[in-house]
Amino acid sequence: MKANAENTQFLSEEEFNENLELWALLEVIYQKYGYDFRNYNYSSIRRQLKRRMEVEKIDSISQIQHLILNDKKLFHKVISDFYINVTELFRDPAFFKSIRNRVVPLLKSYPSIKIWHAGCGTGQEVYSLAILLQEENLFERTHIYATDVNGEALQKAREGIYPVGLIKENAHNYLESGGMESLSKYCTVNYGNVIMNGELRKHISYFDHNLATDSSIGEMNLIFCRNVLIYFNNELKRRAVSVFWESLCHKGFFCAGANERLLGEENEAMFEVFDEKNKIYRKREAA
Ligand SMILES: C[S@@+](CC[C@H](N)C(=O)[O-])C[C@H]1O[C@@H](n2cnc3c(N)ncnc32)[C@H](O)[C@@H]1O
Repeated sequence: MKANAENTQFLSEEEFNENLELWALLEVIYQKYGYDFRNYNYSSIRRQLKRRMEVEKIDSISQIQHLILNDKKLFHKVISDFYINVTELFRDPAFFKSIRNRVVPLLKSYPSIKIWHAGCGTGQEVYSLAILLQEENLFERTHIYATDVNGEALQKAREGIYPVGLIKENAHNYLESGGMESLSKYCTVNYGNVIMNGELRKHISYFDHNLATDSSIGEMNLIFCRNVLIYFNNELKRRAVSVFWESLCHKGFFCAGANERLLGEENEAMFEVFDEKNKIYRKREAA
């Protein structure tokens, strides 16, 4: 259990044994199917497994381990659970307000802008930024690279088709974030769904990128990786943060989720705080 030693401190014997079962399950998933969740946060993995065990009426993690060796359907359900795809438009409005009021004025002096959404999920975060940049007359000179490890989520992001309730549910977020129009202006309704406007997709490329195994991309001015690091253990978080540091241009911005922190002192040499409350950081030219 070396790789997850941080998860084994202060545990009862029962919890320790359960962690061993988890470790064995994640190792089986990696060895048999090549999906690497070995450095994900155990508490979150355990929560997802408990829910799946209830639904499928399975008694133990060891039993799941045995079943998924031959049951590919169950295997896919289990790994889809691990990729928690919860998201919304203009999630954490105060964050988007800070991007609009504090980051955008700086971006306005750039001739072109490159942005990476790592762990973009089903795309709501990407369309939120596209709308914001369009309203600030910056979208035409921007290119957004939107990536995720989950191919199904990425396909939904690419299509930009959502249940019609999305606009009503997130209209308040949009206005609170400083939105200037009606959110419905950015989509058309079609048979109970909304389709995001073609104009918004023009400068976005979607592709597969795994933060556990893939390397840095491009010279980005801004990187969003929100509500993803929270599912990683420190080892994987450290890896992802280095990838982001390498992918940013001089003084580039890095944005984490509302409940996420960089790795404390360890990252002070790499990033300076730009907006602590909204988890916006800026690259330092560090060793
Ligand atoms: C909770 S969603 C966050 C979506 C969006 N960033 C937001 O904040 O609303 C977490 C996303 O991280 C993705 N993810 C999980 N592990 C990943 C990895 N190793 N590499 C890239 N993306 C990953 C999941 O597939 C999921 O889409």
